[in-house]
Amino acid sequence: TASPPTDLVVFGGTGDLAMRKLLPALFLCDRDGGLAPETRIIAASRDGLADADFRDKAAAAVQASPAVLRAGDVDPLTLRRFIERMHHVTVDVGGELAAWKPLGDLLHPDRPRVFYLALPPMLFGRICRDLGAAELVTDDSRVVLEKPLGRDLASARAINEEVGEVFPEHQVFRIDHYLGKETVQNLLALRFANMFLEPIWNSRWIDHVQITAAETVGVGSRRGYYDGSGAMRDMVQNHLLQLLCLIAMEPPASFDREAVRDEKVKVLQALRPLTDGDVAEHTARGQYVGGTVAAQDVPGYADEPGGSGEPSSTETFVALEAGIGNWRWSGVPFYLRTGKRMARHYSEIVVQFRDVPHAIFPGQATAANRLVIRLQPEETIHLHMLAKEPGAGALRLRPAPLELSFADTFAERSPDAYERLLMDVLAGNPTLFMRRDELEAAWRWVDPIIAAWDGTTPEPYAPGSTGPAGAHDLIGRSGRTWHEEE
Ligand code: BG6
Repeated sequence: TASPPTDLVVFGGTGDLAMRKLLPALFLCDRDGGLAPETRIIAASRDGLADADFRDKAAAAVQASPAVLRAGDVDPLTLRRFIERMHHVTVDVGGELAAWKPLGDLLHPDRPRVFYLALPPMLFGRICRDLGAAELVTDDSRVVLEKPLGRDLASARAINEEVGEVFPEHQVFRIDHYLGKETVQNLLALRFANMFLEPIWNSRWIDHVQITAAETVGVGSRRGYYDGSGAMRDMVQNHLLQLLCLIAMEPPASFDREAVRDEKVKVLQALRPLTDGDVAEHTARGQYVGGTVAAQDVPGYADEPGGSGEPSSTETFVALEAGIGNWRWSGVPFYLRTGKRMARHYSEIVVQFRDVPHAIFPGQATAANRLVIRLQPEETIHLHMLAKEPGAGALRLRPAPLELSFADTFAERSPDAYERLLMDVLAGNPTLFMRRDELEAAWRWVDPIIAAWDGTTPEPYAPGSTGPAGAHDLIGRSGRTWHEEE
């Protein structure tokens, strides 16, 4: 069903995120009947584009989008209808208040307004203040904030304060696009719509959990942003900790926005702090060097465009061991890792169960069960089990996975994360967005780790590898190993 007629204003509307992700996702929402006929998409930027030029640019972006191409042929009439929703308005963010008048004139007086800030976070406070001062914020308005939201707890708080002066919390939508991924939402279904997992989902039965988000790409043209961020702020503080929350949270009483977020924030608050002394032992950070991958020369991080060519202490890889201090998880390590220029592109969660307490098959090694939830590129769930090898001779055990492939099981297309999240914003549903206390709890845990790294140098690792030796040492100290594709 279509969302209510809305004016959706995208700040940074001609930028990279809008062109690559937001407009293609909105196009697919529109194609599938999710946008009311009156809904308009208004790009706000400094570019001074005429509507017609912006529409051409938007049409080209939609047609070139891999997500759109995957979703089938682009019907010209559907594209035209979508493009006619588009407007461009020039706003000099940070300029005089009068600069907001053209936007004010364009906005419909009675329709809900969504202000999507696809811009760097240091502008969030200022834009919200000016939106307020220009009297553009109505009771029916929402603001969407892209990550990274600040660079530490103090800056995140300052932004939240400034935004909060204009938008009450229920009107603030903080995006973590991992929460919009179909397979990530499926974690909730897997855990809370099935009976057999929950009773064994605790430290009695689970040995440890691994969460990996590996990319083969380098930082490419994003060096300017990435230098001030690094993998910890770019991936761990948000995406990986959100996955950890969904794996570790207690069952909420309902699928209500606050009930779900209340349980997630409790996990973040229960994370055992890693401070000075623990950081060296429980974390590893790396930076990729140049090399050859699949017969192609790739630059090291220090030589990526936009850098000085000088050594940099920004990490492009992080591995760490987190612990959750509560009844369910006490003593169960959660190993998190993420990196660029790794051997393979995939994200997965591995739940490693404990070994059987007593082996009854003579001469046959047992292997503990493992649940592998693959989030991307393919969406699968594997339960690794042992079975009897067929044959009349002595009983032999052999690994035999139970496999669930979403693509094979469901005929429906999996929407892109942004499609789902944009539809939720238009419907006013914040369940899959980060609440202020969640975001701040995540920074509170991350800050001391980053502080303890100060003055240290990330360990070099080869492109196309599984990361620096330190990551293998980290998990190896407890006699465990990272799960790599068999
Ligand atoms: C973004 C990070 O939030 O997530 C990027 O800023 C990263 O550095 C991206 O590449 C990964 O997202 P996905 O959906 O491709 O796993």
